[in-house]
Amino acid sequence: MSHVNIYSGGIGQLDCLFDDRSNDSYIGRDSYMKNVYKYISESKDQFTQENFYKNFRNADEKIIVPVCAMGLGFWIMTFQDALRLNAQKFQDQKLKLIAEKHRNEDSGHDLWYLHDLDALRINPPDLYMLYSPDLAFVRDSAFEVMGEIMKSDDDYTRLAIIETIEAVSEVFFYHMATYTSSKANGFKLLYFSRHHYEAEMSHSDRDIEAAFMNNTVSYEKRRQIIETVDRILDSFRAVLEGLNDMVMHQEQPRPLELASPYVLANCG
Ligand SMILES: [Fe+2]
Repeated sequence: MSHVNIYSGGIGQLDCLFDDRSNDSYIGRDSYMKNVYKYISESKDQFTQENFYKNFRNADEKIIVPVCAMGLGFWIMTFQDALRLNAQKFQDQKLKLIAEKHRNEDSGHDLWYLHDLDALRINPPDLYMLYSPDLAFVRDSAFEVMGEIMKSDDDYTRLAIIETIEAVSEVFFYHMATYTSSKANGFKLLYFSRHHYEAEMSHSDRDIEAAFMNNTVSYEKRRQIIETVDRILDSFRAVLEGLNDMVMHQEQPRPLELASPYVLANCG
């Protein structure tokens, strides 16, 4: 993503290409991928308006970090495979190098997450937790993103998938870094922290931005790419809503029920 601080006017500084944000205005004016890039960039504005972030500031420290730690585990670990599989599928060697570079810059963040769990004295979520019905929303999102990657049939869609995840991540880590740097006293966090936000902001993205600015695709392809972007944004929106529900109800996710009548009845 274009790595200017989202609250220092980065989005607004882009040239205003369109008068409104209807999808069609981003698809139709010219054939450059830059319109898709602008569409994704502006999604950051919408994401920061999500209730999760509005409620975030006043939430109890004892609930917000553990909810995110338990709630996001499945996605955080899946993300590394998503980056690997997405990069593998590129056909154009120049674009593939860009994807691999981006993957390298985001690699190891799963280990940052495990570090934070240890620092926070939270046991890593086990299978009972990862596959809890309460956390179906985060698994659904991970499967949606992975599904978009697996069915993608061109490199520009794959670039847009990377950019969309980056846009969502930038907003999340901005808010998380602001929160934990003021409240997670005594813990030196790597994943849920300013450390991670700064890593996101330091991606060397000139190549990926240039790929969007300089390449053209057909109207139909731009329409398909923006539909892909929208599905991914919707899936992350559902994650934020799921986390927000838990925060508002001050509830941790419950592990998969071991001794459900159905399981016992079918064990012979
Ligand atoms: Fe990143």
